[in-house]
Amino acid sequence: MLTWDDYNNEEALNATPPAPVVDKAVETLAEPAPAPTPQEAVSATNREGVAADAEAAAAMANVDLAKAALEELDVAPGLEELEMGAARVSVDEKAMINCRADLNQLVPFKYDWAWQKYIDGCANHWMPQEINMTADVATWRSNDGLSEDERRIVMRSLGYFSTADSLVANNLVLALYRLITNPECRQYLLRQAFEEAIHTHAYQYCIESLGMDEGEVFNMYREVPSVAAKAAWSISHTHSLSDPNFRTGTPETDQELLRNLIGFYCVTEGIFFYCGFTQILSMGRRNKMTGVAEQFQYILRDESMHLNFGIDVINQIKLENPSLWTEEFKQEAIQMILEGTELEIAYARDTMPRGVLGMNASMMEEYLQFICNRRLIQIGLPEQFPGAQNPFPWMSEIMDLRKEKNFFETRVIEYQTGGALSWD
Ligand SMILES: [Fe+2]
Ligand SMILES: [Fe+2]
Repeated sequence: MLTWDDYNNEEALNATPPAPVVDKAVETLAEPAPAPTPQEAVSATNREGVAADAEAAAAMANVDLAKAALEELDVAPGLEELEMGAARVSVDEKAMINCRADLNQLVPFKYDWAWQKYIDGCANHWMPQEINMTADVATWRSNDGLSEDERRIVMRSLGYFSTADSLVANNLVLALYRLITNPECRQYLLRQAFEEAIHTHAYQYCIESLGMDEGEVFNMYREVPSVAAKAAWSISHTHSLSDPNFRTGTPETDQELLRNLIGFYCVTEGIFFYCGFTQILSMGRRNKMTGVAEQFQYILRDESMHLNFGIDVINQIKLENPSLWTEEFKQEAIQMILEGTELEIAYARDTMPRGVLGMNASMMEEYLQFICNRRLIQIGLPEQFPGAQNPFPWMSEIMDLRKEKNFFETRVIEYQTGGALSWD
């Protein structure tokens, strides 16, 4: 825990001048410099004086330039930036997209659910290094710790997810953020972006701890077809929005933004993660690779909040812009979610050529159909696989997990209290 004493100690340490570093070789080789004559000494002093005057003049000129630039500053460059003397933002002026009110004002909140998710996300903070990986390292290195099929699942999961979370983070920062015109939603997007960085960190931490071939894992999205197909599908929904010239404001561009939201929240985070999560968590339930499984458990908890946020955003945009939700567009959204489901089923078949960990590809297919139905219903579309059941009800329990109830009964840190400053 940090106290003010630490600051004082740090200052005391910094106050000690560092010992001069002498290059021994240079010291021995250098000839002693001859003493300057009185004329040389005077002319050197003059030169130093002239240089100092020039430096002072340059500094004054810089200050004048800064003052002149500030005199030129236009303090009212547009509604979206700053407008002097404008009325304070009211709740009614706020909107999810194409908002005309000042986006720099967080309050008054219009979307309390977005702020609440930001608060909940912060309360769930965790870091990959908190999780003990010792048992996993021993299992991974031993010859009989895991079957070949189980090893494939660990490799494929780390291979897919290490890329997927980067794709999601890039989409948030480079495409989505500027187009969502509501400050409380942007606050959650910033939290989500940091969580995606933590997830990528977690995969890297697993890969490094286990001593995996990093080149093989990080290139899987280019080299393994079932992984490549999912990554390519996600990327195809970032392209138009990441163009700096892309603007919303027409029915076509607003629908393009909705496509991006459905592609990332409902499909990438809402379907593409589910086969891998189920496989790794099933491994953890069987007491294998419990460190990796615990990392995935925390990631899944974050991801279910990302998904719920995305669903709320999509439904709010629909509510505020009902003309976008045409019959044709609904059909397109159903199609996208079905495509995602098919890709995930292909990934399940590729990663489970036969039964493993009490599951197989056809059970996973039913689970993914069940998940697909849920995603459709969540954004107000009809189920496409009537009657599909959940063969893995324990997955729902894990998703509902709270921090104080740890599924694998390992260590948990409470950031809500642990991050407080000490004042004594
Ligand atoms: Fe993530
Ligand atoms: Fe996510």
